[in-house]
Amino acid sequence: MKAAIHRRYGPPEVLSIEEVPLPSVGRRDVRVRVHASTVTSGDARIRGMRAAAIFRLPVRIAFGLLGPRQPIPGMEFAGEVEAVGADVTRFRPGQAVFGITLRGANAEYLTIRETAAIVPTPPSLTHAEAAAVPFGALSALAFLRDVARLVPGERVLVLGAAGGVGVFAVQVAKHLGAHVTGLCSAANADLVHSLGADAVLDRQAGPGGAVAGAYDVLLDTTDGTRFAEWRPLLAPRGRHVFLSFGPREMLQMAWTSWGRGPRVLCGFAANDPDELARVAGMLAAGVLRPVIGARYRLDDIVKAHREVDSGRKRGSAVICLSDPP
Ligand SMILES: NC(=O)c1ccc[n+]([C@@H]2O[C@H](COP(=O)([O-])OP(=O)(O)OC[C@H]3O[C@@H](n4cnc5c(N)ncnc54)[C@H](OP(=O)(O)O)[C@@H]3O)[C@@H](O)[C@H]2O)c1
Repeated sequence: MKAAIHRRYGPPEVLSIEEVPLPSVGRRDVRVRVHASTVTSGDARIRGMRAAAIFRLPVRIAFGLLGPRQPIPGMEFAGEVEAVGADVTRFRPGQAVFGITLRGANAEYLTIRETAAIVPTPPSLTHAEAAAVPFGALSALAFLRDVARLVPGERVLVLGAAGGVGVFAVQVAKHLGAHVTGLCSAANADLVHSLGADAVLDRQAGPGGAVAGAYDVLLDTTDGTRFAEWRPLLAPRGRHVFLSFGPREMLQMAWTSWGRGPRVLCGFAANDPDELARVAGMLAAGVLRPVIGARYRLDDIVKAHREVDSGRKRGSAVICLSDPP
């Protein structure tokens, strides 16, 4: 099969396309013929081994010390079940499925445990649309509901509202009953409004462009923002929730948990199968919709990674493996 490959960490140019053997199917595995995959900010981070210094060793231990243990990148996938192991009960060949794993999705075939994050694709979605969902939607749910503990009627400001996580954060926050403001480039304002945001702010204005003390939750999907700079926008016990963080934010999380002022919160999203089933239900009900900012062929994997590295990705960068982009 054809797959994207990188055997060392580095810039997008470490990636190439190769012919590799089909992944084998264990007794409890499902082999998926991948019709669409994506390049997420997470894929680009692993490829470039970009993590805060204190996380670099654990991340290398998890993915491979000198180069990735699994050389095929890619987390999100959508396609159809091509083969199942002898003990598989939940899936059958020919079924349309989508899901998320850690590596291996930027290839024509992928093998995954039937109990991992893989679910039937709602009939209303194309493969490309389904592939554009899990990373952003699972992150938005985990950070708004579990980390921020958002309650109906609260006011949320989403920083990076047009990005892979941001487009779902706007929709999930609305679904949870919040008043939502999105911050993005002027060129993405219409998109963020169309996702249901009550207000949209231009990122050029920075923190000065928003009303002081107005927000209960600041969901921060951008890199390099500082709590000190955005803190004045938070209500007295507001939460600045960081998706991308380092030791500074971890220390701030510890000391702001004691005081009476605004707090810092950090966390991680997980590839949870039950959560993904919940997301599939929300897609089927029309509560969530995917945003595809760009489509690439697998042969254009380097170009797709360059777009993600630019920090200007809009929604998802989808890799179309069977349908024309
Ligand atoms: N902790 C976790 O478990 C977890 C899970 C998922 C993601 N993450 C992290 O969350 C971050 C966001 O992920 P993503 O997939 O949404 O990334 P993405 O799709 O690459 O997001 C890019 C967006 O960020 C906006 N942006 C970039 N710099 C900005 C700035 N200085 N101010 C305002 N907006 C800015 C851009 O919007 P405009 O072009 O409109 O300005 C662009 O739409 C990444 O660092 C990722 O690693 C963490």
